[in-house]
Amino acid sequence: MSERRLIEEWLPIAELGIESLRERTPMTPFPAPNRLHVWWARRPLVASRAAVLASLLPADADHKTFLHAIGILGDPILAKRRINSAKRVGENLGPNPYGYSRAFQYTPDSEEKEILSTAVGGEIASMFVLDPTAGGGSIPFEAERLGVQAIANDLNPVAALILYATIDYPSKHGIELVREFEDLYKQFLSAVEPHYQGIFPPEPEGTIVLGYLFARSIICPYCGGLIPLSQNWRLSADGTGIRLLFEQASGPLSAGRVCRYEVTDRLEDHSEGTVSDGDAICPFPDCKRVVDSDEVKRQARTDGMGEQLYAVVLKRRTVVGRTKSGNEKIKWIKGFRAVNQADENTAFIQKRLGAKLPIWIANDLVPSESFPENSNDDRPIQYGMPLWRDLFSPRQLLCHGTSVEVYRELLEADRNAGVLTELRKAAYIYLALSLDKLRDYNSRMTRWHSKRDVIVNTFDRHDFSFKWSYVEMAPMIVGHGYDWAFEETAKCIEELVELVRPEEAAAAKVAAKAQRRSAKGAELFVTSITAMAEPTHAPPPVTITCKSGDHLDHIEDNTIDVVVMDPPYYDNVMYAELSDFFYVWLKRTAGYVEPSLFRRLLTDKDHEAVANPARFKGQKGAKVLAGRDYQERMAAIFTECRRVLKPNGVLTLMFTHKATGAWDALTTGLMKAGFTITASWPINTEAEGSLHIKDKSAANSTIFLACRPRPEQAATSEKKYWEDVEPLVAKAVRERVQKFQDAGITGVDLYLASFGPALEKFSEFWPLERGTPRPQIELEKKRKKQAELFPEEIDPYAVTPEDALTAARREVKSWRLEQLTHRKARTDMDAVTAWFVLAWDAFEAPVFPYDEALRLARAVGVDLDKEIVGRLATKKASDIVLLDSQQRAAKMFLGPADGSRAMLDVLHHAAHAARARSLEAARELLEKGGWLTEPTFHVALQAVLEVLPVSATFSKVELTPALSGFGSDFEALENLRRLAFTEQVDEPTLLSKLRIEEALVIE
Ligand SMILES: C[S@@+](CC[C@H](N)C(=O)[O-])C[C@H]1O[C@@H](n2cnc3c(N)ncnc32)[C@H](O)[C@@H]1O
Repeated sequence: MSERRLIEEWLPIAELGIESLRERTPMTPFPAPNRLHVWWARRPLVASRAAVLASLLPADADHKTFLHAIGILGDPILAKRRINSAKRVGENLGPNPYGYSRAFQYTPDSEEKEILSTAVGGEIASMFVLDPTAGGGSIPFEAERLGVQAIANDLNPVAALILYATIDYPSKHGIELVREFEDLYKQFLSAVEPHYQGIFPPEPEGTIVLGYLFARSIICPYCGGLIPLSQNWRLSADGTGIRLLFEQASGPLSAGRVCRYEVTDRLEDHSEGTVSDGDAICPFPDCKRVVDSDEVKRQARTDGMGEQLYAVVLKRRTVVGRTKSGNEKIKWIKGFRAVNQADENTAFIQKRLGAKLPIWIANDLVPSESFPENSNDDRPIQYGMPLWRDLFSPRQLLCHGTSVEVYRELLEADRNAGVLTELRKAAYIYLALSLDKLRDYNSRMTRWHSKRDVIVNTFDRHDFSFKWSYVEMAPMIVGHGYDWAFEETAKCIEELVELVRPEEAAAAKVAAKAQRRSAKGAELFVTSITAMAEPTHAPPPVTITCKSGDHLDHIEDNTIDVVVMDPPYYDNVMYAELSDFFYVWLKRTAGYVEPSLFRRLLTDKDHEAVANPARFKGQKGAKVLAGRDYQERMAAIFTECRRVLKPNGVLTLMFTHKATGAWDALTTGLMKAGFTITASWPINTEAEGSLHIKDKSAANSTIFLACRPRPEQAATSEKKYWEDVEPLVAKAVRERVQKFQDAGITGVDLYLASFGPALEKFSEFWPLERGTPRPQIELEKKRKKQAELFPEEIDPYAVTPEDALTAARREVKSWRLEQLTHRKARTDMDAVTAWFVLAWDAFEAPVFPYDEALRLARAVGVDLDKEIVGRLATKKASDIVLLDSQQRAAKMFLGPADGSRAMLDVLHHAAHAARARSLEAARELLEKGGWLTEPTFHVALQAVLEVLPVSATFSKVELTPALSGFGSDFEALENLRRLAFTEQVDEPTLLSKLRIEEALVIE
């Protein structure tokens, strides 16, 4: 195999970015692995396959062969450009403007695998790819599909179980798995049904309940009324909502003060929310007092919160007309109904649960473990849910407990009958995963999304945020509940088989179709097709383990061809903490099938490689200690990777984090373990709409780092100095940044992308030190950051990857400023205006984190608190909020119009005058100030026009309310440019691009 690999020379980053987003296009089903079970921070399949294949192929491999093998069977860049233009002019390009299926849907066949074997210079099926932190398994799954032998490991047993269900079972058992699972779940449904008698009230014919909406409740300490807690009472975007009706008894502190609920379709009749910022607001008209959040939590912890049913979501069978042949046209229409007497069966449920619970606890059927005291999110405890089973209402618990009871009875019966084959066991694992699906959608941590009219699941967010009101799903409803969970799982299994054993799955599909036509024909067909499919299929073996990535003692030294890994991203997700929600149930179901995975009380937090401050609770500088712990754990995992990697092997790493501290920790670990970074690629892997990154200014890119074991250095090798390397780092960034931008990487992502080349250069010279000590002021900052914890360790001569990242940011900033001013000298712009321009350029939003703003301020040399906050922006919690010209004027924040503070003030005075009075008034103002011929003004105008959001007048796309004021500034300034500065200031790039795109569509 050639020494250099494709990933060290080339990667189609723009194409991969487009396909990664396409993989998760809203309204199209996500890939089956993502849908099978919740796992956090999954990587796109196409990006994972690209990482594996490009790490195996030699540097001179044919690019077309590569693109084809990863499923890019057309030109996604051209297609995307056409889609964007068509969107703007309202043209419909048909159902699939790409002209080929989403890349992940394509699996190379045996012939293609042979071509790949020739390209890698050896049998691809004899190669090993290791992912030591495999999570939901995108990487090993894709290795398997390429025909490589995958070794997947994860510390977390829930992840390990998902790995078996995603990779191992489908490739081992094929389509049989679907049949076995269907058989099992049907058995389960018949067995469970009798248990549901009387648990949910019957509904009239033609009505299906989709959810019961509950509000948690407390007692008002002032009037004794029962307060149902909900931030608002909206039910649907169409205006439906709740009006509270009050039973006030004989006034405050009398017994029986409760609310009843009326469903109304008039917005103006909705009652006010009863909770805000954690405080409750008593809704009783004769009280209306505020109950502070401490009292709310006190009651929750001491007496426990109550819950009240306030509406039922349902769909009704409605005749909406007649077909041509005279039959009824039926539509199921979603709606809400008020609560009725039959719904009130709390006492019955309590009694039933009371009878069951002691036996269930004795038989270990429901989770009675405590929610960990020591966690990063103890809201369940704060709100009175100290045990895992408390995250479920009594009726939810009754249902989930029943599911486990029946699961275990069936399993026991199969075991006793000696029919628990490997295939049957796999079906039980899927059954356990399906029941988890229901728990995710049926806990006290769900919510009703009134804008989209849907239930939002527990792990829509990566935390245990408390829900004031939640939705309960009835498991036995036809087409919903169990039906939905099982059918969805069956579909996932089928698709997984299709993805790993496409030939067999295709044959099965054809056979099923034939069967529908004629039973005999089908029989013949199946035999011949199976015979055809069988010889070609030989899935490579997969090895799955559940241990810490730093102790892979089942792997021999120097045996792995490539390591491809996607480690935890510092403090982004606390996998173990979150996964306990599922673990406590899985150990009572799947744990009876695969006991080796479920020996612990809860999942392992101690060996988890995340920056977890909870592990250091009570210690001084817990956050700093957590960061160090992450670094050490990652270094240990990398050291293990180095041990098992062949000497000429490559380790490809995916990583993203906005904080340089996280990068510093990761790459220090990497270099300490003896790796050097040989290449880096930014891939746009995150959809902008996904909730956890929707927070403004989030990064969308994942950076791929290709790494190699560093050759042993002679002990006598010369010392290397940062002062010599820093210019090389800057140069490396400069050489790549334009290419990144051309590939569609913009905003914060451009800064992230620059970390790659900077780290490549840095690692080439690592370890290094400073020739002259770090300036005193910087040392002070470092000391402060470490909370003076380890002052002895702050070595003024030390250099860390963070230094390279700072140099990279600085370089991208000056490069961007040059671009935004159309290469008119950078020195012409004052620091405040430069900060404003760079902030818009990087974050493309008016709201972004204060810490990021501070970093930018330091880089351009302004005092954030004195020169920005209270002048151009306000500070809101941990964010900075930029203001447009009108907002600044209204708050009296505008600086002098003579520009003595910043040129941005002159621009904002002009924009404000144009918006509030007229364009001519703005022009006069500029003329009076002598700005018409002033080059520094031209430079600032140019740059500001480049970064502000383009208004709908020019783009035909409406801006969101948060952006519209800035769009109006853009419009005012662009009109001014057209009126008075066409000679001196170029047309903003975005407007020229729009013109070109429009021309493209017209052609
Ligand atoms: C970013 S996720 C991997 C996601 C995966 N690539 C996917 O697409 O689903 C990182 C994983 O590292 C695992 N992990 C954390 N500490 C570990 C350790 N010490 N050893 C092995 N795995 C660990 C976590 O449980 C988590 O599943």
